[in-house]
This record gives sequence, C-alpha cells and structure tokens, in this order.
Amino acid sequence: MNDNTTIACIGAGNMAQSLLRGLLASGHPAARLRASDPVADSRARLAELGVATYDDNTAAIAGADVIVLAVKPQVLGGVCTNLRITERQLIISIAAGVPLASIRRWTGSSNIVRCMPNTPALLQAGITGLFADTGVSVADRARAEHVLSAVGRAIWVQDESALDAVTAVSGSGPAYFFHLMEAMIEAGTALGLDRATAAALTLETAYGAALMARQPGADAATLRQQVTSPGGTTQRALEVMAAGDLAGTVKRALAAAAERSRELAEEFGAP
Ligand SMILES: NC(=O)c1ccc[n+]([C@@H]2O[C@H](COP(=O)([O-])OP(=O)(O)OC[C@H]3O[C@@H](n4cnc5c(N)ncnc54)[C@H](OP(=O)(O)O)[C@@H]3O)[C@@H](O)[C@H]2O)c1
Repeated sequence: MNDNTTIACIGAGNMAQSLLRGLLASGHPAARLRASDPVADSRARLAELGVATYDDNTAAIAGADVIVLAVKPQVLGGVCTNLRITERQLIISIAAGVPLASIRRWTGSSNIVRCMPNTPALLQAGITGLFADTGVSVADRARAEHVLSAVGRAIWVQDESALDAVTAVSGSGPAYFFHLMEAMIEAGTALGLDRATAAALTLETAYGAALMARQPGADAATLRQQVTSPGGTTQRALEVMAAGDLAGTVKRALAAAAERSRELAEEFGAP
C-alpha cells in the first residue's frame, strides 16, 4: 500500500465520510481521495477537506485504484450495473448483506473484498470483518485493510458465510450494549439514583470494563471472576442473571441475527 493509491467512494454518506476522514487522519493524501454522491451537502463537507467530489459515479472511478461501494444495499445493484469497472480496480463493498456473487454478477469483476463494518466506525472505533474473493491479490488485500483500518480494527474471515456471524456479533453488537446500558440506567434509577447519575455510572463502567477487557492477554471470564468475591454483591447479581439464562438468551439472539443476515443476503442479492 502506498500513498499513490487513488480511492474513490461511491456514496458519500455517514460511512464514506468516516472512512475518508480516517484515511486523511492516517496520512493518506487528499489528492488521492474521491467521492461521488447526489447530495450536494455531503459533497461539500468532503470538498472542504480537499477530497475531489463528483455527482457522477463514472467520473469518480475513472483511473481510481480502489472503489469503495458505500451506498445502501437496496441501490447497490443499480449503481454497479451502471459502472464500467476494470479487473485492475479493487472493489471494496461495505454494503451490509449483499453477497459477493451478486457484486461479481453486477460488475463483471472478481477483484472484490466484501466487508461488514459497525457503527463505532463513525468515531474511528469500529471493527470490520473482511472477506476477499479468490482473485484478490496480496497487495489488494493490504489495500482493503488500509482502508478499513482507517475507522478501527480490520479482521479477515476465511468464509463468506462467517460475515453473517460477524454481523450478529459486531455489526448488530453496539445495539446489544446500548440495550444493556438502558436497562442498567433504568435499574439504577429504580434504586433511587437520579437519571443523570445512573447514566454516568453506567457509561463510565461500560467504558472502563471495555478498556480492561481489551488489554493484551486479558480474558473476560477471568476478569469477571476477579471482581466476583464469594458471597458478595456481584455474585448475588450474577446469580440472578444466570437464573434468567442471560448467556442462553444472548446465544439465541445472535443466532437470530445471523439468520436474518442470511435472509437479507437473499433479498439484497437478487438480480
Ligand atoms: N452506518 C453504519 O454503521 C454501517 C455499518 C455497516 C455497514 N454499513 C453499510 O454502509 C453503506 C453506507 O451506509 P451509510 O450509513 O453511510 O448510508 P448513508 O449515510 O445513507 O450513505 C449513502 C449515500 O449514498 C448516496 N447515494 C444514493 N444513491 C447513490 C448513487 N446512485 N450513487 C452515489 N451515491 C448514492 C445516498 O444519497 P441519498 O441520501 O440521496 O440516497 C447517501 O448520501 C450501507 O450499504 C450500509 O449497509 C453501514
């Protein structure tokens, strides 16, 4: 990966804005970044940063090395069939649920990396699962990793079907944590705290626990055991969670999300 790589985003919405800002922050030259979008406001926000903007997708991809497909899944088929992409150009699709086979059919290319990012990418704190088509070179894999690393961590998966599991764990994952936070804030309020205090206690605890759990070598189960004194308050709370089969509920919830991801792939991937 070098600074001469020209990256063109098709669609300049939330995710493309984050990717382009992340790439600029990582030192990628603005002169090598492009975006196309029908929305003038989205283009203007990027133009202010020195990114070349277009209202014509064909003009945006001319001569680009990497094309990031960052439109909604519902419009991706129409966007792709109107583009002439050469096999030399790496396609990175971040569209949730759209199968690689469909993108291959719509573009006629097999130089494709399909990704599943998540919402914290908007704060450069995301995590993305990536899957490469068989024709993707080592150099193009590195390019894809460079692009997605601009908004957080990037992890390769070996099977496209694993992206359904990625969707269930990290794609939808932020909502699970938000839901737990909501429940803890409600519970803290029920115990007599004012809402602002309950919220501050919950959010800083979530942040601190995440920081501890992501230390090198840390393990969630060990950390939980370390803060659970026998006969103490934490143990009493965890016993209630186990009685309600929290672990089983989470397992069933993620299986349902993965199943929905497979259904969406059939809907979005249809010709
Ligand atoms: N946001 C996330 O956290 C997240 C997470 C995982 C995956 N993704 C995926 O990332 C993709 C983009 O999501 P987003 O949240 O950035 O969506 P978004 O904010 O709606 O951005 C999409 C942009 O593409 C524009 N667009 C529509 N048709 C176009 C066309 N023919 N040519 C060029 N641009 C066109 C849209 O304009 P209009 O508004 O006029 O339609 C909009 O500005 C989606 O496929 C989504 O599945 C997003």
